Amino acid sequence: MTIQWFPGHMTKARRQIQEKLSLIDVVIELIDARLPLSSRNPMIDEILQGKPRLIVMNKADLADPAVTKQWIAYFKQEGHMAVEADASSGVGLKEIPILAKELLRDKIEKQIAKGMNPRAVRALIVGIPNVGKSTLINRLAGRNIAATGDRPGVTKGQQWIKVGTDMELLDTPGILWPKFEDQNVGYKLAVTGAIREEILNVEDIAFFAVKYLVRYYWEPFKERFDLKEPPQDDENPDEIVAVMEAVGRKRGCLVSGGRVDLEKASSILLRELRAGKLGRYSLEAPY
Ligand code: G4P
Repeated sequence: MTIQWFPGHMTKARRQIQEKLSLIDVVIELIDARLPLSSRNPMIDEILQGKPRLIVMNKADLADPAVTKQWIAYFKQEGHMAVEADASSGVGLKEIPILAKELLRDKIEKQIAKGMNPRAVRALIVGIPNVGKSTLINRLAGRNIAATGDRPGVTKGQQWIKVGTDMELLDTPGILWPKFEDQNVGYKLAVTGAIREEILNVEDIAFFAVKYLVRYYWEPFKERFDLKEPPQDDENPDEIVAVMEAVGRKRGCLVSGGRVDLEKASSILLRELRAGKLGRYSLEAPY
């Protein structure tokens, strides 16, 4: 679900997360593996106030696996523990409580040395809308807890969900806003479906996607739509539009006079891309 974020929403969202920080030991920051920068909150470091954090790159089933590996190495270099996951099927989720505990190893060892019996690690999931927070909570809980789709400012009574014996999770995730200053961020979010098409023009979103596919994923793209040669100059808008037209012709999006209905072609292309029909892709790489 797409929400308009106004300064008031952001302040409220931030306050709600910060209120929960005192209750928890670890933050699970959920990002989209296809766009790890654009699906991150720009103020995350400031908001989390140094709380130990595990980065979970969700929807890794849709992302380019080689690029995801690069991102994990990148985050490690930045001093963050990161792991890939697919919350919808459950792949990669077993590691989450183990790594959350690992983040608190020093603290836990000190407690044991003092003769204390460490309690389960308490965690909060945070992330932008549509990144998979509710899906992850439901999977970890093993039952339906969180309603999918969310709005800032809507809260319900909070409960702890037991995840095995080592972790407890707050049932309400922290909702963060994406970075909007950069128009490309908006396009990337729209390509993955995180932002509704009504907000940006569908042809512009498809144009952005085609330019990227031509440059980085030409082979699967060509294969899917029976395309011929790649554009000679992918900076030339006419050549990108010509590729969009070829996609439209392949899918029978023709209007009178044999012209291609670019809007329809764009919708089809984006739908197929999001459904993984063009294979796995990442829209951002760290290097
Ligand atoms: P949110 O709470 O952060 O807003 O996200 P939510 O869990 O509602 O997930 C948003 C959409 O992303 C859901 O699809 C969900 O099924 C999908 N999703 C979540 N995690 C993964 C993942 O790891 N891999 C894949 N492939 N999809 C994931 P939806 O609302 O049903 O939309 P759609 O599936 O009908 O497009």
